[in-house]
Amino acid sequence: MKKVLLVGNGAREHAITEALMRSKHEVELFVVGSAKNPAISKMASGYLIGNVCDKLAIRNFALEIEPDFAIVGPEAPIEAGVVDMLLGIDVHCASPLQTVGRLESSKGFTRNLLAKFGIKGNPDFRVFHNSEGLREFFEHLGEDYVVKADGLKGGKGVMVSGDHLNGIEEGMAYALECLEDCGRVVVEEKLVGQEFSLMSFCDGKHTVEMPAVQDHKRAYDGDKGPNTGGMGTYSDAGHSLPFLKDSDIEEASRITAEVAKALFEETGTYFKGVMYGGFIATSKGVRLIEYNARFGDPEAMNVLPLLKTDFVDLCEAIISGELDKLSVEFEKKSTVCKYVVPEGYPDSPIKGEKIELGDVPEGVRVYFASVDEREDGLYLGGSRAVAFVGIADSLVEAERLASAGVECVSGPVFYRTDIGKLELIEKRIKMMKGLRG
Ligand code: AMP
Ligand code: GLY
Repeated sequence: MKKVLLVGNGAREHAITEALMRSKHEVELFVVGSAKNPAISKMASGYLIGNVCDKLAIRNFALEIEPDFAIVGPEAPIEAGVVDMLLGIDVHCASPLQTVGRLESSKGFTRNLLAKFGIKGNPDFRVFHNSEGLREFFEHLGEDYVVKADGLKGGKGVMVSGDHLNGIEEGMAYALECLEDCGRVVVEEKLVGQEFSLMSFCDGKHTVEMPAVQDHKRAYDGDKGPNTGGMGTYSDAGHSLPFLKDSDIEEASRITAEVAKALFEETGTYFKGVMYGGFIATSKGVRLIEYNARFGDPEAMNVLPLLKTDFVDLCEAIISGELDKLSVEFEKKSTVCKYVVPEGYPDSPIKGEKIELGDVPEGVRVYFASVDEREDGLYLGGSRAVAFVGIADSLVEAERLASAGVECVSGPVFYRTDIGKLELIEKRIKMMKGLRG
């Protein structure tokens, strides 16, 4: 019997729960979540509803349970030091401590780490603590720049020229605003290419990559509209993506392995958990956009259902630093994940309205996110609501299954119809071909 403590209650944590429950070990699951996830709660032996960053409440819950290990799903509790607190009471986590969690919580820390250790993958960048040299650097970059607030903002602190800002003056103004807000800002070269997510398990010394995934951050079809937490994702049976070359995956894996090593040298702390690299394939090779220190949401729903290796064994290998002794395998299947979100998402989402989930066709997986289960049904929580995943031998079939899923939801919601469709994927292949010349 393994007692596992899970912090988090979204669709990503639903996928984590499912992977734990498939283990050959008997798992007793205890959850801390901000709301009652309808699916996770059915599999859990104990469920504490509360703030996922409340260290005191989580400490008391953990002391009562005495789990064999813990997993912290979202970034906020990692940054708040929940993993550090748990280690303090001898509960080891397959999630990183705060100091190495800076890989996600501070974009400046990560850019500086790559630069200091000579790891190739950074764009031209500078981290500013005050306005000295700011204008000169904008002039050096010209019209193509990106300005990033240096803290956890759910991707919302990033402003890209041409998309959100125009010209040096607007860039300067936003950079000064960031300096005032958090004392640090990263200004960098705007990269052009195709983005992809490559997540790797890491025990501090060894890294093992998962299948590559492509997320869709924009709210509406055709990559239009505001940025979101991610409207949907797909992965391909060969574990690469149709617009990537093998060398792109190798390059991204190399960056992650080198960053894991550098992190330890820099901090004296091993990174244990998931290093999720947001990469971009450009005409000059692969570049790093950012790291997250956790599974992606929705990316977890693409890769965890394919995991053939026992997930409990995997978490324990991450904790003990013996990932090299485990063979980590994934099924060779294509996956498509689509999120149903409230009308108005992400800027002014409808909240508290009822939705109906009809009969979901066989073979379609359902993952609950920001929904509240009441006696008379499901209510919108105000963020991404329910994800549907299709898994099949081909992308076409996986997309068909995911689409059949989203169509089962009625109420004030919408979703992107184009995610995983050949038409959109072909556009991406064509764009990359054009860039590579
Ligand atoms: P981040 O929070 O760093 O992932 O940034 C959010 C989004 O901004 C990314 O998914 C990219 O689409 C975009 N972005 C960030 N950095 C760059 C960059 N250097 N060049 C182009 N786009 C970027
Ligand atoms: N898929 C975006 C994220 O998890 O941050």
